[in-house]
Amino acid sequence: ATQWRGVIREYWDRLDVSKNTPVITLGEGGTPLIPAPFLSEKTGLDVYVKFEGMNPTGSFKDRGMTMAISKAMEAGAKAVICASTGNTSASTAAYAAWAGITSAVLVPDGKIAMGKLSQAVAHNANIIQIEGNFDDCLEIARELADNYPIHLVNSVNNDRIEGQKTASFEVVDSLGRAPDYHFMPVGNAGNYTAYHRGYKEELARGRTDRMPRIFGFQAAGSAPIVSGQRVLKPETLASAIRIGNPASWDLALAAQSDTNGYFGAISDEGILAAHRMLSQTTGVFVEPSSAISVAGLMERSEAGVLERGATAVLTVTGHGLKDPSWALKTEDGSDIEPVRVPVDVERVAELLGMEKSS
Ligand code: F0G
Repeated sequence: ATQWRGVIREYWDRLDVSKNTPVITLGEGGTPLIPAPFLSEKTGLDVYVKFEGMNPTGSFKDRGMTMAISKAMEAGAKAVICASTGNTSASTAAYAAWAGITSAVLVPDGKIAMGKLSQAVAHNANIIQIEGNFDDCLEIARELADNYPIHLVNSVNNDRIEGQKTASFEVVDSLGRAPDYHFMPVGNAGNYTAYHRGYKEELARGRTDRMPRIFGFQAAGSAPIVSGQRVLKPETLASAIRIGNPASWDLALAAQSDTNGYFGAISDEGILAAHRMLSQTTGVFVEPSSAISVAGLMERSEAGVLERGATAVLTVTGHGLKDPSWALKTEDGSDIEPVRVPVDVERVAELLGMEKSS
C-alpha cells in the first residue's frame, strides 16, 4: 500500500501547479467518508459524513493552505498573513512552519477556541488580537497585503478555493458519482464556493452524472446570506462561523443558483443538539460549527423537501478537540463531571447497574 501524498500530488493535473511549484504539504486530504446509519434511518436518506477534522491540523483549511503556501513560495513570498476565527490561523501557522517562512495571524478579540490558539502559538505564528470581529480582521489583513510585502492566504486568495475543491473530487472518488445533496457550514462561503467548483469540474469531466444541491447553513445570529444583509455584530457560540460580511458572498450566490442550492439559519441550541446527536449516534466528534451540517440535514428533512432514498453528504469541517468544552455541558448549560468512586469493583458495578454473573 502506498501512502496518501496530499491533495497537490494526488490531484496534480487538476490544479494550477507545475515543476516550478514547491509542494508544501503535511499530507492533507484523503479524509474518511463515514456512513451514518442513524442519520440515514432518521431521514430516509443514504447519509455519509465527510470528516474534515481528520486533516493534519484538524480542519478542512489544510486543503486550501497546501495550495496557498505552495503558490506563495513559488512567487517568492517570505511572509504570509491571514485573518481568522481560528482554524485558518492554525493551518497557516503549521504550513508556514513547514515551509520555513514567517506567518502573521489576526484574530478577533477573545472569540477564538483554545485548541486553535494553541496551535498558532505552538507553530510560532505572530499572533495579533484585533479589538474587533473577524470582518475587521479581514479588512486589515487585506490592506496589509495590498501595501506591504506580505502574502494574503485567506480564501479571497483563489489558490485556497482551488485546494479546497479537492474535497468534492474525493467524494466522487468514494461514491462513484456526486451525491444528490451536500450539506455544509457557511462562514465566508469560501468552502461552499469550492465544493461547487469541484463538483462542476467533475460533471464536465463526466465523472458524475449530477450536480448535487448544496445546502449551506449559517448560525442564526450570524446569517447575512440568509437575511440578505450584512450583520454588524455577529453572535453565535459557533465561533468559527461568527462572520457578518462573508468574503465570498457573490460567488456563493452564483453557486447556489447553479446547484438549485439553499442557505438556511440554525439557532445555537439547534447546533448544540446536533453536536450531541452526532457524537452519540455516529461516533464523530466535531466542533460546534461543524455540527450545523447535521442540524441543517434534520431541518430540511423535517421540512419535507428531501427525496427518500437520495444520497446526502455532510461535510463536518473541524475536529471536536479544537473546542472540546461544549461536550462537557448538559442541555441546560450546567457542567458535566465524571462520577468519582473509591478503588472498589463492587461500587463500580453498582454504578453501571450490573449484577454479578453466576
Ligand atoms: N467550519 C469551520 C470549522 C471553520 O473554521 C470555518 C471557517 C467554516 C466552517 C466556514 O467556512 O468560511 O469557507 O464558509 N473558518 C474561517 C477561519 C473563517 O478563520 O478559520 P467558510
